[in-house]
Amino acid sequence: MIKFDEVHKRFPNGTTAVHDLSLEMPEGQITVLVGSSGCGKTTTLRMINRMVDPTSGTIRLAGKDILESDAADLRRGIGYVIQQSGLFPHRTVLDNVATVPLLLGWGRKKARSRAAELLETVGLAADAGKRYPHQLSGGQQQRVGVARALAADPPVLLMDEPFGAVDPVVRTQLQDELLRLQKDLAKTIVFVTHDIDEAVRLGDRIAVFRTGGHLVQCAEPAELLARPADDFVADFLGAERGLKLLSLSTLAGLPQGPAPEGGRWELALDSARKPLGWRDGDAAADSPLLPVRALRDGDSLLSAVNESIASPAGLVARVDADGVLTGVTARAEIHDHAGEAHISAGAAA
Ligand SMILES: Nc1ncnc2c1ncn2[C@@H]1O[C@H](COP(=O)(O)OP(=O)(O)O)[C@@H](O)[C@H]1O
Ligand SMILES: [Mg+2]
Repeated sequence: MIKFDEVHKRFPNGTTAVHDLSLEMPEGQITVLVGSSGCGKTTTLRMINRMVDPTSGTIRLAGKDILESDAADLRRGIGYVIQQSGLFPHRTVLDNVATVPLLLGWGRKKARSRAAELLETVGLAADAGKRYPHQLSGGQQQRVGVARALAADPPVLLMDEPFGAVDPVVRTQLQDELLRLQKDLAKTIVFVTHDIDEAVRLGDRIAVFRTGGHLVQCAEPAELLARPADDFVADFLGAERGLKLLSLSTLAGLPQGPAPEGGRWELALDSARKPLGWRDGDAAADSPLLPVRALRDGDSLLSAVNESIASPAGLVARVDADGVLTGVTARAEIHDHAGEAHISAGAAA
C-alpha cells in the first residue's frame, strides 16, 4: 500500500500543486487520480517515485517512509509509464524493453528473452521487437511503454495519462489489455487521467482532484457515481452519471424467458441457433431482418438498456459464450433492474 499523510507540495515559484493530501492507494489495486489539467495529479504521482519531493508530510510505501529509501533503489520497484511512451528512438523495441533488466545486471541474453516475453504479454507480435519506436503506431508504442515499465517486475506501477494520445478505439483496447494484465499481475497501480470514463472503467478506487491540489472525494466507482460528495464532483461526473453507473453492473442476474413466437416480432436464428435479426411479421416476406445485438451475461446493464431501446421488439436477445441463444429479456424488466441498481449503489454508499 502507498499511504499519503498530509502531503503538501509548494514549488519554489509559490505554486501549491498538492494541498495537504491524505490518501491510501491499496496494494494490488488500481487507484485512479482524476481531475482537470493543473490540479496536481502528475505532481502527486511523481512524489511517489521521488522525482518530486514533498514540502511537508509523509509518503509510505509498504509501511516505509520513502524518504528513507535510496531514490535509485526505490525506483527499481516502481514502473513508470507516461503519455509519450518515452522510448529511446535509436534503440529497437526489444532493446527498449530490455533496458532496465540490463541496468540491473541481468546479462544480455536473459534481458532480451524477458523483453520478448513481455512484448507478447502486452499483445505485440514478436517481429515488433526488431523495429524502432517510430515504425510503430501510437497504440503499439504505448504497449511497449507498458512492457518496459513491467520489465523488472516492479510491485508498483505509476501511469501518467498513458493512453491520452491514442484514438478512442485503440484507447479502449489498451484499457481492456491493462485490466486483463492486472488480473494476473495484481500490481499496485496509480493511474492518472483527466477522463472520467477511463477512471470509471479502470479504477478500483477513484480520487477526484480540484484545482489547487485538493482531493475532493475518494471512493469506489459505484459509490462515487451514486453519491458524489458535492456539486463539483457531480458536475465532473457529468449529466450521464446515472448511465455510467449502469456500466458497472452486468446482466448476469436478470431473468430471461423464451423467444417470442406467433406475434409480430420473431427472432431469426441460424442453424446453430445464433441470432441473425428480428423478423417483422407485418412486413413483406422478403424484407431484410432488423439488426439484433445479442448480449452475454458479462455485458453491462448499460448495453442492455441501450439494446432494449434499439430493439424493435422491446426484447433483448441473450446468448451464451458461443453466441447461441439462451433466451430474451423484456425492456420493462431491464429498466426495473436499472432502477434497482441505482438504489442499491446509493444505499451501499
Ligand atoms: N516544476 C514546477 N514548478 C512550478 N510549478 C509547477 C511545477 N510542476 C507543476 N507545477 C504547477 O503545479 C500545478 C499542478 O501541476 P501538475 O501536477 O502537473 O497537474 P496535472 O498533472 O493535474 O495537470 C500546476 O499549476 C502546475 O503549473
Ligand atoms: Mg499531468
